Amino acid sequence: MSMVTAEHLHKTFGRFTAVKDASFSIDKGEIVGFLGPNGAGKTTTMKMLTGYLPPTAGTATIAGYDIIDKPLEARRHLGYMPENVPLYDDLRVFEYLEYRARLKGICGKSVRQQLGDVIDKCGLEPKRKNLISTLSKGYRQRVGLADALLGNPDLLILDEPTNGLDPNQIRQIRELIRALSENHTVILSTHILSEVEMICNKVIIIDQGEIKAADTPENLTRNLRAAGRVSIEFKGDATPVVAELEAFAPVKKVILEEPEDGWNRLLVRAEPGTDTREKAAAIIVAHGYPMRHIYRHIPSLEDVFVEMTRRD
Ligand SMILES: Nc1ncnc2c1ncn2[C@@H]1O[C@H](COP(=O)(O)OP(=O)(O)OP(=O)(O)O)[C@@H](O)[C@H]1O
Ligand SMILES: [Mg+2]
Repeated sequence: MSMVTAEHLHKTFGRFTAVKDASFSIDKGEIVGFLGPNGAGKTTTMKMLTGYLPPTAGTATIAGYDIIDKPLEARRHLGYMPENVPLYDDLRVFEYLEYRARLKGICGKSVRQQLGDVIDKCGLEPKRKNLISTLSKGYRQRVGLADALLGNPDLLILDEPTNGLDPNQIRQIRELIRALSENHTVILSTHILSEVEMICNKVIIIDQGEIKAADTPENLTRNLRAAGRVSIEFKGDATPVVAELEAFAPVKKVILEEPEDGWNRLLVRAEPGTDTREKAAAIIVAHGYPMRHIYRHIPSLEDVFVEMTRRD
């Protein structure tokens, strides 16, 4: 079942188009990494999904509710952690969350229970009585996350939840998001690609307002140009080795780098999904040349990101 469907979402600011005709869908239970360079349109898209920013054209549904025709129902199914979490510095953690809970229409006995629940889930128990102004950045992010969790929404939309955190805090928030994903669908934006590789089962890449890809990390890396790349270091006359490699069918290009320490370094570009290591090694060995390195590049999300968003 679809938790989110974006249908031709479009947003212009004056003459500037921030998001162009974005369509995608997200299934229940998915953890989606929303990636793109600065200014790509991630925050704008997230704000449209959450109802904070009306689309210029197009619409979306959250848990089956149209964000334009049924905004209250749609909002009730989502929790949003904005890019810059607006917190009230002069409130204590539990006071702030209590205030947010009441704003969200949570009332009566369930306020206390929900507060306890989100404070516990986000590891805020030791800080519940602290003034927000005294919290470290990581704990402020946790308060933002706790806020998003109030009301136990089906969908969490988290705009750079680990922005500005140190590696230990990043790991803690990542584990928290992983745990939350058992009961929630999660969309998160981030610039940390390794994070996405670790926790997301779907990636949406946006660049200059356009959705470039929406797929699993595995499918995205499979057919990359970078996928067939091999690097080799050997000693000896490079000319015949390059010629023989270039004559080998899957090879598209061989680049010889300036030897630095007497060793030639070859970069072999081949069809995605092929492995030219065995052939390359056989050629070098047949010449009787020594070889000290041969490596087939394992494509990562970083390769996907670069290939889809670079300008050349
Ligand atoms: N209220 C606004 N008025 C005018 N332009 C805006 C407004 N909000 C966003 N933009 C522009 O829309 C584009 C997309 O911005 P957005 O904040 O969605 O990018 P982003 O992908 O979230 O970037 P980042 O990674 O830096 O957070 C940017 O060029 C931005 O300057
Ligand atoms: Mg942003």
